[in-house]
Amino acid sequence: MAIKSLSDSSSHAPQRKEANLLSASPAIEETESIEESIRPTTLDDYIGQQDLKNSLKITIQAAIARKEALDHLLLYGPPGLGKTTMSLILAAEMGVNCKITAAPALERPRDIMGLLINLKLGDILFIDEIHRLNRVTEELLYPAMEDYRLDLTTGKGKTAKIQSIALPRFTLIGATTKIGALTSPLRDRFGLIQRLRFYEPEELTLIILRTAKILNTIIDETGAKEIARRSRGTPRIANRLLKRVRDYVQVKQENCITQHLAAEALEQLNVDQKGLDWTDRLVLNTIIKQFKGGPVGLEAVAAATGEDARTIEDVYEPYLLQIGYLNRTPRGRVATEDAYQHLGIAKSTSQLPLF
Ligand code: ADE
Repeated sequence: MAIKSLSDSSSHAPQRKEANLLSASPAIEETESIEESIRPTTLDDYIGQQDLKNSLKITIQAAIARKEALDHLLLYGPPGLGKTTMSLILAAEMGVNCKITAAPALERPRDIMGLLINLKLGDILFIDEIHRLNRVTEELLYPAMEDYRLDLTTGKGKTAKIQSIALPRFTLIGATTKIGALTSPLRDRFGLIQRLRFYEPEELTLIILRTAKILNTIIDETGAKEIARRSRGTPRIANRLLKRVRDYVQVKQENCITQHLAAEALEQLNVDQKGLDWTDRLVLNTIIKQFKGGPVGLEAVAAATGEDARTIEDVYEPYLLQIGYLNRTPRGRVATEDAYQHLGIAKSTSQLPLF
């Protein structure tokens, strides 16, 4: 069974900015072959997201029994949690091809047309960052998703004609970090909407042990736990930190990643015990020291830290919210008691609520 990926071969490959150590975006230096070798290829191989796996197993079984394509599926959740991996697994389990693209690469109508026309029966089309589709492309998708039909408009104004081309039954998998940014007509056309959640440290530990085995790296359980603890609930980060710790241990001429060595390596990389990096701490420190702990608007935090507001919102905030260091209120962002404690800052009594 061939799995085709457009993401690496297409000239319209998604534009990724260079990732830092804790970014959940794929790093440029990670060659496709290493990335591919550590990706699980079956649902049974895939660690974590048990609820999602359970419902997908049922959907797959039912679709195979009916000899039908899978329903269109929308996967949402923070970056790095395995949305692309899950789509490749679904394709493998269904025995079909998976074409991978991202909304920013679908600028012109002919970009999406070309992809749709070349689909084969049952194929999966994966569109990353689907909330960023432009209106024309999105509207071409409506009849394609609903009636497996591509409507081409020729001519303009009164002489405009619509010509319909039949498409094979296919499955669209949309991935997004921002489900709220999807239009409701698009969202409503997905038969299945599933969220990926952050991973538990125990799940990340298993992922790290699995990856270490594939990379022929010796690690003990304490070492894996230490890396897991600092991986922000995100497998992509866990695997990236593992590789950096492996480099450290190799240069130190040690042969096994232990807790002590993992902690030493990650401290040196400025990844603290909760997995926060320099920018996370800058964001929290700024809210606490410059804005008295908040509430403060995102744009003000961005201006004060010199970070891009979207990067703060998409990359840094989800995990700070998840671990309860940050709250989003209608009046802005607020640093929590736990954030003060983590940074070792005393909350002045004048700021405490009176009752
Ligand atoms: N590598 C990255 N994510 C994984 C997962 N969920 N299970 C196993 N290996 C992985």
